[in-house]
Amino acid sequence: MNETLKLISNRKSVRKFADKKISKDDIDSIIHSAMRAPTAGNQMLYSIIEVDDQSLKDRLVKTCDDQPFIATAPLVLLFLADYQRTYDFFISSGVKEYSIKEGIQHRTPGVGDLMLASCDALIAAQNSVIAAESLGLGSCYIGDIMENYEIHQEMFNLPEYTFPITMLCFGYPVGDYTGRQTVPRYLKEYIHFKNQYKRLKQADFMEMVKPIKEKYFKSGKYTGNSENLGQHFYTKKFTADFTLEMNRSVQKALDNWSGVE
Ligand SMILES: Cc1cc2nc3c(=O)[nH]c(=O)nc-3n(C[C@H](O)[C@H](O)[C@H](O)COP(=O)(O)O)c2cc1C
Repeated sequence: MNETLKLISNRKSVRKFADKKISKDDIDSIIHSAMRAPTAGNQMLYSIIEVDDQSLKDRLVKTCDDQPFIATAPLVLLFLADYQRTYDFFISSGVKEYSIKEGIQHRTPGVGDLMLASCDALIAAQNSVIAAESLGLGSCYIGDIMENYEIHQEMFNLPEYTFPITMLCFGYPVGDYTGRQTVPRYLKEYIHFKNQYKRLKQADFMEMVKPIKEKYFKSGKYTGNSENLGQHFYTKKFTADFTLEMNRSVQKALDNWSGVE
C-alpha cells in the first residue's frame, strides 16, 4: 500500500480531542484541500462556516442530539449545500431580464439543485477529513446537524437556498490512535456490484453483517429487546427520536427548494 492508501485505510473517527490548538497554517491547508475537491461544473455549490465561537459550539452540543465532544473540538467546520450564492450571482447578473429576452423559463433552485449542492459539500468535507488526517488530526462527522433546521438557520444566519448537510469536528486524538483498530465494514460482495444492482436475501444479510457481529455483538447484546442486528439498527438508528427529528427538519428545509418563485 502506498502512503495515501494506508492513510485512508487506517482512518478512524475521533471523538476525544487533546486540549491543543490547530495552527492557522494547518486550518488553511484543510480549507484549501476542501476547495480542491471536484465540484459540479466548477461552481462550488457549497460554503464552509468555521465555528470558533464557544457559545455556538456549546449550543451545537444540544441541537445535535447531545454530543458533548462538539464543544471540545478545536476546529468545527459546518458544510452547507449552498445554492444561495450562485442564485444571487445569477440575479445580480441580470438573468431575470435575460430570460425574458431569450424566452427562457426562469426558475429558483429545486430539489435536484439541493442534491447536487449536497454532493459538492460532502465531497469537499471528505477532502478536508483526509487532509486533516495527513496532518495528524482526527475528525468526526456530525450528521445530526441536519436536525433542528429552524434553529440552525437562526444560529448561523442561513438563507433559504442553503442547507447544513454536514458538520465536522477536528482535533488531535487523545490516546493510542495508531494502535486503535479500525471499525469493521460489511463484506465487500454486498456493497460492490458489477453492472447491475443486486437485491439481497435473508441468507445474504447473515453473511453481510458477520464482520460487525463478530467484533461487537459476540455476546448478542443488542439495544433493548432487539434480537438481532437488523432489529438493533432499526431501534437504535432508524426509528430513534433523533432520526425522526432529522426527517422532520429536512422536510421543512425541502419546502424552500420548490424550483418556482
Ligand atoms: C454522514 C455521517 C454522519 C455521522 N454522524 C455522526 C454523529 O452525529 N456523531 C458521531 O459520533 N459520529 C457520527 N458519524 C461517524 C460514524 O459513526 C462513523 O464513521 C462510523 O461509526 C464508522 O466509524 P469510523 O469512522 O471510525 O470508521 C457520522 C458519519 C457520517 C459519514
